[in-house]
Amino acid sequence: MLLRNAWYIGAWADELGDKPLSRRICGDPVVLFRDSSGRAAALADRCCHRAAPLHLGKLVEAGIQCGYHGLVFDATGRCIAIPGQKLIPQDAQVRSYPTVERDQLVWLWMGDPSLADPTKIVDFPYHSDPAHWRNKHAVYPIKGNYMLMVDNLMDLTHLGYLHARTVGGNPGAHVAADMKTTRTPTGLKFTRWMRNSLPPPSYVKAAGFQGRVDRCQEFEFVAPNTILQWTGAADAGTATDNPQHDFRFQFRLFHGLTPETETSCFYFWSAANGYRQNDPEATEQLYREIAPTFLEDKEMVEAQQRRLDEFGEQDLVDIASDANRMHMRRMVERLIVGEQSAVAAK
Ligand code: FES
Ligand SMILES: [Fe+2]
Repeated sequence: MLLRNAWYIGAWADELGDKPLSRRICGDPVVLFRDSSGRAAALADRCCHRAAPLHLGKLVEAGIQCGYHGLVFDATGRCIAIPGQKLIPQDAQVRSYPTVERDQLVWLWMGDPSLADPTKIVDFPYHSDPAHWRNKHAVYPIKGNYMLMVDNLMDLTHLGYLHARTVGGNPGAHVAADMKTTRTPTGLKFTRWMRNSLPPPSYVKAAGFQGRVDRCQEFEFVAPNTILQWTGAADAGTATDNPQHDFRFQFRLFHGLTPETETSCFYFWSAANGYRQNDPEATEQLYREIAPTFLEDKEMVEAQQRRLDEFGEQDLVDIASDANRMHMRRMVERLIVGEQSAVAAK
C-alpha cells in the first residue's frame, strides 16, 4: 500500500526541458513539463479525448499539445484548444497534480489536492547554495519498493559489507559505531560517531588523510521518503563533540525516494561538497565516488525485491541494528492507516 497524501519528487528541476517528461508515480502515469512562463506542471498522462499519452505530444506556447489530434492543455489540465472547433466541452480536462519547484527539485502531491500543503515540503537550502555546497545530482530507477531503499539508509551497518571498496571501511567500526537517535514529529534523527577509525578509501582520496580519523554522520529521516545526510571526518583526536563543525572533510547527501509502483521506485540523490568549494573537480570526484556506492545499494535492493516477490516477508528476523528502520516503518504504516481511515470515513 502506498501513501498518497505526501509530497514526492517527480523530477530534478533540470530534467524539465523542451520535451515532456513521462514518469509513473505511485502507480499513476504522469507527464511533467514547464509551461511558457517556466512554471512546472504535472498532469495525468492520458488525453481526455482518446486516451493517447500526452508525453507523446509536444510543448506549445499555451501548455502541452496532444500528439494525436492536437488538443492543447494548460498547466492546470484544462483543455484550451481543439483544432477545428470553437466550443470546448466543460469536461475536457485532465487531472493535474499540485506541483512545487524548490531547491532544484520538482515535488508532486499525489493524494487529495485539498490537503496539499507546500510548507510540509522538506527544506534543503544547500541545493541552492553553490558558493558553500557545490553539488551534483542523479536519479536512479530501482526495481524495488521505495521502502527498501529507506530501510537501507536507516541501517548503516551495511556500509562495512556492501560498500567495503568505496565509502565503507572497517565493518567492525560500523557495527560498533556510537549511535544516538532522537525521534522528531516528522521522523527521526540519528548521529553515528566512529572515533579513531581507519578512513575509507574515498575519504583518503578526497581529503588526503594520513592516519586514523574521527568520523561522524548525521541522518534525518522525514516521513515517508526523504533522508538528509551530513558526513564529516577529521584527523583522529581533533574533532569536538559537535557534529557539523570543525571537520576539514565534510559533505551532504540528499536522498529522496519516490514510489513508481509497489515494487519499483526512483532514487533522487545529490552529493554536495563542503570541503573544497572553490574546486569544481572536488565535487566531480565526490560524485564519482558516491555514484557507484549507490549502484551497489540499487543492485542489492533489486535482488532483495526479487526474493520478497518470491517468498514474501514471512520468517524474516529483526536484529539490533534494525531499531531505527523499524521505527521508521511503524511511522509510515501509521500514516497509511490514518489515510485509509480518513478515506473510509468520507
Ligand atoms: S487523443 Fe489526444 S487529441 Fe485525440
Ligand atoms: Fe548503501
